[in-house]
Amino acid sequence: MKYNLLKFICCPKCKSEFKIYVKTKKDKEIFGGSLICKNCNSSFPIIRGIPRILDSQKLTHIKRKVGERFGTEWKLHGNIYSFYKKQFLDWISPFNASEFKNKIVLDAGCGKGRHLVQVQKLGAKEIIGIDIGNSVEVAFENTMHLSNVHVIQGDIYFLPFKNIFDIVYSIGVIHHLPSPYEGFKSLTSVLKEKGKLIIWVYAREGNDWIIKYFDPLRRNIFSKINPKLLYYISYLPSILVYLSTRTILKKFFYREYLNYISKFPFKEIHHIVYDQMNSPLTHYISREEIEKWKNEILLKEVSFRHHNKNSWSCIFQKSEFL
Ligand SMILES: C[S@@+](CC[C@H](N)C(=O)[O-])C[C@H]1O[C@@H](n2cnc3c(N)ncnc32)[C@H](O)[C@@H]1O
Repeated sequence: MKYNLLKFICCPKCKSEFKIYVKTKKDKEIFGGSLICKNCNSSFPIIRGIPRILDSQKLTHIKRKVGERFGTEWKLHGNIYSFYKKQFLDWISPFNASEFKNKIVLDAGCGKGRHLVQVQKLGAKEIIGIDIGNSVEVAFENTMHLSNVHVIQGDIYFLPFKNIFDIVYSIGVIHHLPSPYEGFKSLTSVLKEKGKLIIWVYAREGNDWIIKYFDPLRRNIFSKINPKLLYYISYLPSILVYLSTRTILKKFFYREYLNYISKFPFKEIHHIVYDQMNSPLTHYISREEIEKWKNEILLKEVSFRHHNKNSWSCIFQKSEFL
């Protein structure tokens, strides 16, 4: 943990400032110690350089399981590749990447930190990545050399921030939460007035066959297999998906999506397939649901896009009066 992260975080329980107790450090990085709330005395450890701001009482079985399985996933697929830049810009499109310049940004559910690296290169002032699972260790390794990037192990439902962010983005995360709406609402609570929220989620629309045939298998079988074993098992369907992206099939079936991923190397197709099989909790979210969330929280819609005809990419702006 870098010392300047202290300026941006607060106690998730009472929103007061933290004081820091340092046990081990190296240069500007604190490797061991704790964060203690100046008001309510709640204490959170810093372990292997990462503040672990979790509440064991709020960590339900399913949240723990999601964090553990994705933690294993990101350890097995920990590298950062150059094609991630375009993939990220496509997910957030039509958001103008130059808007990140000099902004305070939150990556909610940062996984291995692949987008943190992109947003840092795009000139953000400070970027904080938060994730519930042990993938934070991979994100920390991938970003610790970047002085304005910070990684926290934490829960979207228990955020250690006041409303300090110019931009919050969450790519592929909200559909893995027990209550997507509560997660969405929590993310808007840490935005500044007029701050922007960018989300990318699986759509209900365009995924009928996945919901009918694949999802029961994911729920009842794949997500119950040891995640390391599943990694090897997932090679077989990955080869089939890879071949279908290289044949005429992609012109007829799940066309937009298969065409899109046909540009990816096998290792990324393997990751996509493994990711789909591994998740213990996945929702497919309709446009109507997201519009309802937006209206309940009084957000302004900037953009609402059916990405590859199987997911939603949305940009919202927080009103001045919230
Ligand atoms: C499919 S991954 C996406 C990771 C990253 N956004 C990316 O695109 O590379 C979903 C991530 O959300 C995280 N996650 C799930 N529930 C969470 C929660 N309640 N709080 C924070 N992170 C959570 C998981 O641990 C996982 O790393």
